[in-house]
Amino acid sequence: MKTTVSSFLLHIAFAGSVLGAEFSQSSIAGLAGLSFGNNFPNKFIVEVADPADNPSKRSLDGRTTHEQLYDFMRKRDLGFEVEREFDAPGLFVGSVVTLADAAKVMNIPGVKAIRPVKLIPAPQPVKKHIVTGVDDPEVPPDSESTHILTVSHNPLQPSYARYILIMDHGRIGFNRAWTNCMPKVSLGKESRLESLTQVIVIELYRNGYGLKLPYQGIDFTNPFLGGGFGPGFKVIGGFDFVGDDFKLRLAGTNTPQPDPDPLDQCNGHGTHVAGIIGADPGNPFNISGVAFKASINAYRIFGCTGVVGDDIIIEALLRGVSDGNDILTMSLGGSDGWTEGMSSVVSSRIAATGKIVTIAAGNDGAKGSWYTSGPGNAINAISVASLDNTVIPLQNATVHGVKHDPITYFATFPLPVNGTLPIFTTSNDTTIVDDACNPLPDDTPDLSSFVVIVKRGTCTFVQKLTNVAAKGGKVSLIYDNGSGFSAIDVGNFTATLIQEADGDFLVNEFASGAQVSLSFPQSGASFNFPDASGGLISSFTSYGPTNDFFFKPAIAAPGGNILSTFPVPLGTFAVLSGTSMATPFIAGVSALLFSVKGTTAQVGKGARSLFETTAQRVPSSHTDGDPLQTLTQQGSGLVDAFKAIHADVIVSPGELILNDTAHFKSLQTFTVKNAGTSAKSFKIGHIPAGTALTFQPGTIFPADGPVPLSANSASVKFSETSFTVHPGQTQEITAHFAPPTGLDPTTFPVFSGFIEIANAEESYQVSYLGSVGSLKDVQVVDDTDVFFGVNLPILTDSAGNFLLNATNFTFVGDDFPMVLLRLAFGTPKLLFDLVEPDIKLTTTLNKRGDGPHSSERTLFSFSSAAKSGTFSQVPTLGSLFEADFQPRNSDVDDGTGFNTLAISAPEFANGTTIPNGSYRILLRALKVTGDPTKEADFESWLSPVIGIDAP
Ligand SMILES: *[C@@H]1O[C@H](CO)[C@@H](O)[C@H](O)[C@H]1NC(C)=O
Ligand SMILES: *[C@@H]1O[C@H](CO)[C@@H](O)[C@H](O)[C@H]1NC(C)=O
Ligand SMILES: *[C@@H]1O[C@H](CO)[C@@H](O)[C@H](O)[C@H]1NC(C)=O
Ligand SMILES: *[C@@H]1O[C@H](CO)[C@@H](O)[C@H](O)[C@H]1NC(C)=O
Ligand SMILES: *[C@@H]1O[C@H](CO)[C@@H](O)[C@H](O)[C@H]1NC(C)=O
Repeated sequence: MKTTVSSFLLHIAFAGSVLGAEFSQSSIAGLAGLSFGNNFPNKFIVEVADPADNPSKRSLDGRTTHEQLYDFMRKRDLGFEVEREFDAPGLFVGSVVTLADAAKVMNIPGVKAIRPVKLIPAPQPVKKHIVTGVDDPEVPPDSESTHILTVSHNPLQPSYARYILIMDHGRIGFNRAWTNCMPKVSLGKESRLESLTQVIVIELYRNGYGLKLPYQGIDFTNPFLGGGFGPGFKVIGGFDFVGDDFKLRLAGTNTPQPDPDPLDQCNGHGTHVAGIIGADPGNPFNISGVAFKASINAYRIFGCTGVVGDDIIIEALLRGVSDGNDILTMSLGGSDGWTEGMSSVVSSRIAATGKIVTIAAGNDGAKGSWYTSGPGNAINAISVASLDNTVIPLQNATVHGVKHDPITYFATFPLPVNGTLPIFTTSNDTTIVDDACNPLPDDTPDLSSFVVIVKRGTCTFVQKLTNVAAKGGKVSLIYDNGSGFSAIDVGNFTATLIQEADGDFLVNEFASGAQVSLSFPQSGASFNFPDASGGLISSFTSYGPTNDFFFKPAIAAPGGNILSTFPVPLGTFAVLSGTSMATPFIAGVSALLFSVKGTTAQVGKGARSLFETTAQRVPSSHTDGDPLQTLTQQGSGLVDAFKAIHADVIVSPGELILNDTAHFKSLQTFTVKNAGTSAKSFKIGHIPAGTALTFQPGTIFPADGPVPLSANSASVKFSETSFTVHPGQTQEITAHFAPPTGLDPTTFPVFSGFIEIANAEESYQVSYLGSVGSLKDVQVVDDTDVFFGVNLPILTDSAGNFLLNATNFTFVGDDFPMVLLRLAFGTPKLLFDLVEPDIKLTTTLNKRGDGPHSSERTLFSFSSAAKSGTFSQVPTLGSLFEADFQPRNSDVDDGTGFNTLAISAPEFANGTTIPNGSYRILLRALKVTGDPTKEADFESWLSPVIGIDAP
C-alpha cells in the first residue's frame, strides 16, 4: 500500500487505539498509507511581507508581493501550485501553495512565515438531543436559565442586579416574574445595535479525527432565526466556502463548491450556535438569543461531514472582516497547545484591530492540562470555557400499578406514546453488564404492547434496541449504569435514557411479579431537571495554559445542556452541549457591549479584560470547602453580562501572567480607574483557586481531567491594601507573588487565582497564573514502554512490527520503515534527519551501542548525500520531516494518542532521492522555551541502522 500523496511522502500520521491503558501494536499498521494528521501533507500557508511594511517597495516593479514570491520560487525550480491567495494588508498577505520543500521557501526574501495547513476536524457537540417537535403545549415555564446564570446576584441590590436592561436587544438575566420592578436605566445607545453590530458565525468545535458529524452554515428558514436570508432578515448575509458535499477526508480531498448561500440543513450545529446569539423570543420554549436584535452573517466552512483546512478558516475570517462584521465567533478548533498556528495568528491580529473575536476553548477536558485548542489559542482573542446550565428541560413518565414518583426521562418533548403500557424487562438482574446485546431468547413474548426496560452497557443503544425490535418491541427505556444521565443515540427508535435508580426500581418490581405500567403524558409533564453539575465548569472544557503560558480559556459562559434553534428538517430545536455553545453566548454579550458602549476599536480591545475583571468566580464542586476551579479551566470565571456592561470601575489588565519558574515575574502591576461620578474606596484581597497538579506524580505524563487540585496556593503582598480613587482618577497597585510551597514538583503545579478589588457594594478582580517548575525541564518525547510495551520511539515496518536491529528496505510495495513516537508534551520544533550510520552523537533518549544496537553492522557503504548540512552542530545528510509547534499526544483512543512518521519512498523532504546506502534516523524535539540553536535544548533519539536498497 504505497501512498499516493504526491511528492511529500513523509508525514506525521496521528492515530491510535487503546487497550486498557496501553495501545495495541496492531493499531500502528495501516497508518502508513494514510496521509492525515493535523497537518495537511503538502500544503503550506506562506505569509509574505505586507507591501506596506516593505521599505524597498520599488523592487516589486509593479508586481504584487505574491507575484514576487512566485517568481522567486520559479527561479529556484521549486515545483509548486497556488491554491488560494490572501490579500488583507495588516492582517494577512500570503498564499496557500502545494509544494515539496518548505524549507527553501523560508529563505526567499519577503517570506515572513510558512506553516503547514492544519486540519480542523468537523465539530461535534459533547451531547446532542434533537427535539422531536415544536407543538408541545407544555414547555418548561421559563427557559431563560442561561441568562439568569450570567447576572450577578448581589444581595445589596436586589431590585437591580437581576434584570435585563436591554429589553429590546437581548435578555441578560431577564426574569419574567420581575418585569414590573424593572429599574429605569437609561441606555441611550441601545438602538444602535441593529444597525451597527453584525455577528459572524463561523462554526463549531471538536477535536479528534475521522468523526462522522457536523458542519456549519445556518438554517435561516427556522422561523426563530428570521425565516429568510438577506437584507431585512436576521441572517443578512454570509457565504458558503465549501458546499454540502465538501469532505476534506483523511486520505484525500475534494474540491470546495463555494456559493453565496450558507444554508445548512444537514447538520445543525451552526443553527444552534446562531440561536444562542440571536433566536427570537416568542418561540415555544421561551428562549431568546443573548442579542436577538443583532444581524448575523453566516460563513459556512464545513461540508456535511469531514474536516477543513485552516486555510479556509483564514479565508472566512478575512471575508468576515471585509464584510464589516464587528464580532467574529468561531465554535471550532482542534488540539494545538500553541498560539502560533496560522488561523490563531490571523484571529489574534483581527482582535488586535478592535473586533471582538470569540473562539471555543475546546472540549478536551478529559485529556488534562496543556491541551488547548487552536485557533482558540489566539493571543488577543477570547477563548471561551463552558459552564453547565442549572437545569435541563426533560419529561416525566407516570408510574401505574405501584405507588412511585414520576420517572424523568431524557427527552425535551414527550415520547410519542399513547395510553398506558405494561413494562417488560429484558433481564431481572440489575447488575447485568451486557443486557440485550445479544438476540433475546426464543421464549420472549411479543413485546409490541410493552415498554421494554433495558440496562445500559457493553454494546450500542441501537444494537440493544434492534434486538428488542426483533421481538416486536416499539417503546424502550434504557436505564443508566453509572455512565451519567444524558442524551443518548437511539437511531430511529422510540427510546431514551432514565436514571439508574428508576431502572432498578422497575426491574425489581417486575421481577417480584408486580403489575407495573407506564404512561407518557403528552402535555403537563415537562420538568426542569436540576443538573447536579449545574453552575460548575463543564468537565469537557479543555484545560490550559498554552505551552507558551498564555491564559486560555479566558472566560466561561453557559455551554452545557443548552436549548437552542436547529434546522427545521432536523427538529427546529435541540439541546446541545459544548464550548461551541458557550462561545456564541460571549459573542452575544459582546454585541450588547458594543450596543451600549458604541462600536469602537477601543471598546473591542478592552472587552476581554472587561469580561474578566467583572466575572463571577466558579467553584470546583458544590462541596463547601473545596477550592475554586483552577483558572486553567474556568478562565476568569462566568461572564457577568450586566456587570461588564455597566461597570464604572475599569480594572486593567484582566490577566497577570507570572509564567514558569525560569521566567517568573513575581512583581506585577495593575490599575483601577474610577470612571464613575463619586469617589470609591476599595480593599484589595487575595482569593486563590485550586492549584492544578498537571502531571501524574513521578511520571512524564500529564494528569487526565478532572485535573487534581491542591489547596496550597501562592501568597501575594500588595503595595496598598486599601485605597480611595476619585472620579476620573486611576490607582496603580503592585502585587508581589510567591509561588505555593509543599507541592510535589513532579506534578508540575500550575497555580492561579484572583486579586479582588472590592467594597460593600461592588467587586472586581484580576486573574493570575503561574507555575512551580520550568517548562524547559518537562520531558517532551515519551521514552517509556507504558503505551506499547516497548520503549519509544521505535522503528517499525509498515505493518507496525517493531524493529530493534538494522534492517534493509526496498521501498517496493509495503517495504518501508516508520518511526513510532509519542509526544508526552508539546514541542516548538520536531526534526527528523537522516544521518550517517556511524555518527558520533550522544542522544538524550537512547545510547548507541546499548542493547539491540550492539549487533548492528553497516549494511552498505555510505555514498554521498543529496543534501547535507548541520543543524545545531549535528552533521545531517538531509531532512526527512520538520514540524514546528506540535501539540502533545493524548492517552486515549481517538486518533490523538501517538504519531508515526512513515518514510514510504526513499526521498528527502525536498523530494530528492536518498541514494542507496545505510543511515540512521535522528529524531530531535526542542524543549519548551528551549533555544533552537542549542543542541542541549533538544531531546534526541537515533534509530537503528536502516539500509536503503531501492531497485
Ligand atoms: C417529574 O418527576 C420528578 C421526579 O419524580 C418530580 O420531582 C417532579 O415533580 C415531576 N414533575 C412533573 C411536572 O411531573
Ligand atoms: C396517539 O393518539 C392520537 C390521537 O388519537 C393519534 O393521532 C396519534 O397518531 C397516536 N400516536 C401514536 C404513536 O399512536
Ligand atoms: C432512520 O430514518 C432515516 C430517515 O428516515 C432512514 O434513512 C434510515 O435508514 C433509518 N434508519 C434505520 C436504522 O431505520
Ligand atoms: C423475571 O421475573 C418475572 C416475574 O417473576 C418472570 O415472569 C420472568 O420469567 C423473569 N425473567 C427471567 C429472564 O428470569
Ligand atoms: C513565558 O515565558 C516564555 C519564555 O520567555 C515566553 O516565550 C512566553 O511568551 C511567556 N508567556 C507569556 C504569556 O508571556
